[in-house]
Amino acid sequence: MTSMSHAHRHLDDTARNILRRNDRGGYTVPRPGLYPFQWNWDSAFVALGFATFDMDRAWQELETLLSGQWADGMIPHILFHRDDEGYFPGPDVWASGTRPRSSGITQPPVAATVVRELWQRDGADPAHPRMRALYPKLLASHRWFHRYRDPLHNGLVMAVHNWETGRDNSAEWDAALARVSARDVRPFQRRDTSHVDIAFRPTQAEYERYVALIEFGRARGWDPVRVAAESPFRVVDVGMTMIMLRANRDLLALARALDDQQVVQELRTRIALSEQGCDWLWNEDLGVHCSRDLVDGRPAALVTSASFLGFFAGIGSPAQHARLLERLAALADSVPYLVPSLAPGSRTYDPLRYWRGPVWLVMNALIARGLDEAAETALANRIRGDSRALVERSGFWEHFSPETGQGCGGDQFSWTAAMWLNDLTSAST
Ligand code: GLC
Repeated sequence: MTSMSHAHRHLDDTARNILRRNDRGGYTVPRPGLYPFQWNWDSAFVALGFATFDMDRAWQELETLLSGQWADGMIPHILFHRDDEGYFPGPDVWASGTRPRSSGITQPPVAATVVRELWQRDGADPAHPRMRALYPKLLASHRWFHRYRDPLHNGLVMAVHNWETGRDNSAEWDAALARVSARDVRPFQRRDTSHVDIAFRPTQAEYERYVALIEFGRARGWDPVRVAAESPFRVVDVGMTMIMLRANRDLLALARALDDQQVVQELRTRIALSEQGCDWLWNEDLGVHCSRDLVDGRPAALVTSASFLGFFAGIGSPAQHARLLERLAALADSVPYLVPSLAPGSRTYDPLRYWRGPVWLVMNALIARGLDEAAETALANRIRGDSRALVERSGFWEHFSPETGQGCGGDQFSWTAAMWLNDLTSAST
């Protein structure tokens, strides 16, 4: 056995142990202490990790997540199955009034993509009972997005809180957050900075605005119509939009398998709408897709890792693809580790601070998968190779410096371990 495969075997064991250790019985916390509850898109990615060694547990992760779905179809971004004083803002701040208690906002809808993947690995039987039980819930969550989060009726996804995007402090949200007043926010004690170095985290001023947006939603009883119409923070997120489009394609595959013709039609119409709508996010100067503010209509004009999800979403003209690949190749020349969450040289770029520069392995996995599907194998392999090298060098961190590979944020992180098992371990190459 080569020393590399020996080292990988060891990392495989460590990754499985991280998932087991962070398992709270039916759901997995992203990182004990820092994130002690169930997070929406983390759980979807984590299920892919479990699927490599415990298929039953993989399904269960999503079943538990969907058990917290709201009556209107929304899947909350956090489910507070149990109390934990070590996190702010906890369930009392959100005051969702639901069981289980939850936050009042959502997160990128990767669940349908993951369910399709689990179902395929499990034999792709249309009669698969666990897939069949999740299907109507996924459909309800997609319809929730279509109904409440598509204000332009062009198939793009609006976020009303930066936490919904999953890319919390991306510079894309700076202008929108600047409009949010934190004047009336009561003093609070942050908990994140007692778990990790403050240099990795959003600033205090940013955090106050995040809390102001929660108070805004809570004051409206989390009514999805009012929140969507009145929120001071309203952006079209390129990340959620691309992930939603892809998720609709995956849900369509399930609808076809179930011969649910009405839904097949509904989703096809929806997909066509989004395919066209995405051009509203195209930035010709930069040659990538960018998020866009809905209050003033301005494009964020920033190259982020989410700018490269068009391949994963299955959109873009040949000319757009060429520009995207050019831009990604330029990034590949500028940093040793792809894909930085914000392009170096952008305003407020910081290689260590959360979503303002660091590499996140879940984004890498989605981008690489899209590139593979577009037969752009060389860049896909470069991204996967960089992800692998980051873990080999530093371990299973929350995120990594694209410049040095240093691990940042929390260590022993669930979704990083899951991405290793699912995508990067020697067995899957
Ligand atoms: C941070 C990330 C978000 C993730 C959560 C739990 O808030 O920005 O994407 O879901 O941590 O890991």
